[in-house]
Amino acid sequence: MAKYQNLVDQLKRQIQSGIWNPGDKLPSLRKQSEHSGMSLMTVLHAYQLLESQGWITSQARSGYKVAPRFKKQQQVQMAVSRTENVDVNEFIFEILQAGKNPLMVNFGFAYPSPDLYPRYHINRALSAAARNMPISSAFNNLPPGNEQLRSIIAKRYTTRGIEISPDEIVITAGALEALNLSLQACTKPGDCVVVESPTFYGALQSLQRLGLKALSVRTDPTTGIDIDSLERALQTHDVKACWLMSNHQNPLGFTLSDEKKKQIVELLQRYNVALIEDDVYSELYEGNEPVSSMKMYDQSGNIMLCSSFSKSLVAGLRIGWVVAGKRSFDIQKLQLMSTLATSAPIQMALVHYLTSRNYESHLKQLRKKLHERKSKMADFLSTLLPESVKVVNQKGGYFLWLELPKNIDAMQIYQDMLKANVSIAPGKMFDVTEQYNHCIRLNASFELDQQRAEALTTLSNSIIHHMNE
Ligand SMILES: Cc1ncc(COP(=O)(O)O)c(C=O)c1O
Repeated sequence: MAKYQNLVDQLKRQIQSGIWNPGDKLPSLRKQSEHSGMSLMTVLHAYQLLESQGWITSQARSGYKVAPRFKKQQQVQMAVSRTENVDVNEFIFEILQAGKNPLMVNFGFAYPSPDLYPRYHINRALSAAARNMPISSAFNNLPPGNEQLRSIIAKRYTTRGIEISPDEIVITAGALEALNLSLQACTKPGDCVVVESPTFYGALQSLQRLGLKALSVRTDPTTGIDIDSLERALQTHDVKACWLMSNHQNPLGFTLSDEKKKQIVELLQRYNVALIEDDVYSELYEGNEPVSSMKMYDQSGNIMLCSSFSKSLVAGLRIGWVVAGKRSFDIQKLQLMSTLATSAPIQMALVHYLTSRNYESHLKQLRKKLHERKSKMADFLSTLLPESVKVVNQKGGYFLWLELPKNIDAMQIYQDMLKANVSIAPGKMFDVTEQYNHCIRLNASFELDQQRAEALTTLSNSIIHHMNE
């Protein structure tokens, strides 16, 4: 895409989301050029294009201003925003790379603290699998994947009241492969896909990779996706799929009520739209009541439920699955054409672990620890941060979502923190619009030791500093 077009799209999004209001003066050509790193000519080109399309006006000596007529459109656009081409990869890649520094205090990390994994037992399972690999293992573990593993996964679903046959399950390399294959199975390049706003950045990357258009639908930090906006999106666009999370959503942390899960399934069924249910955090509920899933209400076979062991057992094994419904064969074929199969010894190691150890007791401990650590971190943050910063702490999972005053750019705080060797996940990672640029996601699964307490103090000082600027 031409550089000036990037700036045009960015300014349109900012105007739509209310960052720039009618009558607001835009940065001068020189300032915009310094800020964006684009040449004066490129910025001028972008401003002229916006002016010719009626978004902004220019006046001799007073520069460029947002045109008055865009006020009304704002509300409609904020609830459902369509992005022609998703372009988030480079920025997210940069942030993920920075998080790999071993000296970093990693609140930007997406996985639970590694000290919560049963490392010793997993290592034993891995060596047992390596020692006992039958000669036929490569064939037995081809798509749809290891039969015993699929049957264990299906059995676990029954404890959550979800009836699934092992034949519906396809084993994948982590949930991400499951999600990608599911998306591929129900779309073609150029199609529209509904995502939450904000959403998991992996969804945005997948859409970008497959040349799909994102339709971001307003999502409340407590109650989740706005049903009316979702229906409006379905009425006004030819939507082929929705990628949604119903439990412990990343990054906000909410869990949809059973009533709402059912409503969404019925709505999508009515519009004949496929649902990709990203359910990687469902084992991390709080208390004794397991959470349900939207797949429970599926009558059309049009829901692909994706999950993995990455958040509940160990991240690095890269084993996930999709309960593929009517698309099971399509997904297996796509897998055969891309990665061929999921690693046979790793599937066997998991079977070994799950049949020889008490997974349920590991999960109980994990849930308890996550709850304790998240509460402790939320309490500590509330002693540090001013009242105008909202710390959203939902039941279950391990993310905290910080909402700073709207004029604060969390990217500046992210940059400050990088210099102090602390990573955070700025809100910009989770949306194609600029609506969450004042938000931060924190991973609260780590023990709050002295180093981390100091890192949070530095974070809070940086936030306060930017608020007082
Ligand atoms: C919401 C969500 N979905 C999917 C994934 C990917 O899971 P996996 O590591 O099993 O591929 C993640 C990982 O961060 C996630 O947060």
